[in-house]
Amino acid sequence: MSRVVVTGKVPEAALEKLRAEHEVDAWTESTSIGRAELLRRVAGADAVVSLLTERIDDELLAAAGPQLKVVANVAVGYDNVDVPACTARGVVATNTPGVLTEATADIAFGLILMATRRLGEGERLLRAKEPWKWGMFFLLGSSLQGKTLGIIGMGGIGQATARRAKAFGMDVVYQSRSEIDPAIATELGARRVELDELLAVSDVVSVHCPYGPSTHHLIGAEQLEAMKSTAYLVNTARGPIVDEEALATALRSGVIAGAGLDVFEKEPEVNSGLLTLENVVIVPHLGSATVETRTAMAVLAAENALAVLRGDEAVTPIR
Ligand code: GLV
Ligand code: GLV
Repeated sequence: MSRVVVTGKVPEAALEKLRAEHEVDAWTESTSIGRAELLRRVAGADAVVSLLTERIDDELLAAAGPQLKVVANVAVGYDNVDVPACTARGVVATNTPGVLTEATADIAFGLILMATRRLGEGERLLRAKEPWKWGMFFLLGSSLQGKTLGIIGMGGIGQATARRAKAFGMDVVYQSRSEIDPAIATELGARRVELDELLAVSDVVSVHCPYGPSTHHLIGAEQLEAMKSTAYLVNTARGPIVDEEALATALRSGVIAGAGLDVFEKEPEVNSGLLTLENVVIVPHLGSATVETRTAMAVLAAENALAVLRGDEAVTPIR
């Protein structure tokens, strides 16, 4: 029996799997665990199942001790985990790719529709009990059919978003570090381009790359300037990929038409410059927030931890 520490509330199905084989110490409060309590609890853990709100760094690995074998992050993004520090200590780090792909692409598309069709503005107007009536020019947005979607980062989520775009009659271009399966590119009718071209030709730019030093402020003032003034920016990946201050300025001055954000640079804080703008849709990091998806993510993280504790290969190790 090993000791498994779970750093936050996760669906019961995952806890049951873990409890069937090990002693489980799970933080079950709805408030977050806090650093001091986290460092205290991980001492002596053989596995840590972590949420993206907890920083897994060398200090935490040291606090856990040399018996620690695996950190199973309940997220596809792992910018909260210092993977090289894990590797240096012989700790396997895992994430949850695949299981949240469709849910996150759904939210990306939801934001695309909300931003281009001004749904948030319309909702706010009704809730404020403003007078309104149907009018030929009332709250006109912008159509998607025949427009171009530019996808930055063509992993599973980028591809799933491209598939939706195709169903909406959009053309797709993408920028990606690595070549994608040519059969998938053909199926999606998606053309690989450099970032400059993507920004210049896209009517909607959707961000799906991981966050790290090489993607910090990938979209800043200069990139926003390179977009069409009629274009929209959507981010469901990680906040700091976009320079939020530059985005607020661009939205205020009409450099681009609008934006939809599920993630923020200093989460959970939202740049105050964005809060007063009508042309930005903001939702609180809901990309994977369905009952089915969160359960699948937590179960996959549990399976990763269990595999490593058994001495097997992790199911979805971070490589
Ligand atoms: C959510 O943001 C994730 O990375 O899974
Ligand atoms: C998601 O599953 C991804 O790998 O992009």
